[in-house]
Amino acid sequence: MSERPEGERQAGGFDPALLRRQFAILGRDVAWLDNAATTQRPEPVLAAMNGFYRQHNANTRRSVHRLGAEATAAYEGARAAVAKFVGAAAPEEVVFTAGTTAGINTVAAGLARWEIGPGDEVWVSAMEHHSNWVPWMKAAQAMGAALRVIPLTPEGRLDLASFRKRLGAHRTKWVAVAWVSNVLGVVNDVRAICDAAHESGARVLVDGAQGVAHLRADVAAMDCDFFAFSGHKMYGPMGIGALWGRRALLEQVEPLLYGGEMVSRVEDQAATWAEVPHRFEGGTTNVAGAVGLAAAIDWVQALPAAAHAHVAGLARQAAEGLAAMKGVTVRGPAEGRVALVSFSVEGVHSHDVAQVLDGRGIAVRAGHMCAQPLMRRLGIESAARASFAPYNTPDEVRRLLEGVRAAQELFT
Ligand SMILES: Cc1ncc(COP(=O)(O)O)c(C=O)c1O
Repeated sequence: MSERPEGERQAGGFDPALLRRQFAILGRDVAWLDNAATTQRPEPVLAAMNGFYRQHNANTRRSVHRLGAEATAAYEGARAAVAKFVGAAAPEEVVFTAGTTAGINTVAAGLARWEIGPGDEVWVSAMEHHSNWVPWMKAAQAMGAALRVIPLTPEGRLDLASFRKRLGAHRTKWVAVAWVSNVLGVVNDVRAICDAAHESGARVLVDGAQGVAHLRADVAAMDCDFFAFSGHKMYGPMGIGALWGRRALLEQVEPLLYGGEMVSRVEDQAATWAEVPHRFEGGTTNVAGAVGLAAAIDWVQALPAAAHAHVAGLARQAAEGLAAMKGVTVRGPAEGRVALVSFSVEGVHSHDVAQVLDGRGIAVRAGHMCAQPLMRRLGIESAARASFAPYNTPDEVRRLLEGVRAAQELFT
């Protein structure tokens, strides 16, 4: 699908009202400020998925009939689109997964686990989502390796100086880090982390979940070894995502899902695997999801620069408005925030804040945000988070601020 997002004003500015027309769900009485949890999907994405089911539905790779060939072409076409989107050298470097979590588990359990042992170290950062923490923790524990944590600076960025100092040459085997934090909104210098890790002989997986909707993904520029992301956080479908990996490393990953279509030959007592990436896609794959993801890639790439500036402006408006309120603490550094703002209201539980906001038709996330290790380091149990997309408006941010004030009045 190559339909351009609407929303470009003639003056080169950006009008979210035009863009909103592509999102039927936004016609409901809701200010959707929970985009970091999942975005909404524009009509071109829904149409692409519908079109697949209406016109081309078949299982891929295993059928000789014409619909099977069409479905395979659509699926492999989507793979090529993802490869281009992340700057891969070839489509074969892209594995379709159920999402970021599935991609990370594939690497942690299918490769990293077999490369570590007692005395080795695996590093994650203090701001990781549980999806990029627990798989590494389990792999390290299973093999007797140590899990180390890149600490935070007082400002709430990764303390790379400390990381570099403590990185154990030849001991550190793997580093797993988020491109963008789902709580603090900071963009991590993944290139610097990759450089330091590679100097020590370690491999790096980058969790791209919160970056892909807002920043240009380029695995070559990052120089990472693996990159995982989810479709549903970038206007695509749920249940589909991708794992990019260097071809030579993907060849070494043990598949986690054994079954149909991931094999080359099956004997009674042995099996060999299909070529990469198909060996990682056992069972019937999510073809409509892949087609929808390709449409979302088209859609997000057609957004004008002004749309991204608009999102950054909304995050700034929210952060400044919240920071100016007595009793409200905004989490994370003030500068360089990407599309989200997490905050705490003194004396009011984040769930109560979210409930009051919901009563006013405003959807935000509240809780530990799947980042309990970070919450502990921040000295809190939970926070509320507003996260933005180009279809959000300054008026929605104003309503957010009014709602937080109302929660304060109600509970304190
Ligand atoms: C930074 C980060 N990593 C990983 C995930 C997990 O993504 P998924 O649930 O799509 O697998 C999320 C989801 O919130 C996230 O924000």
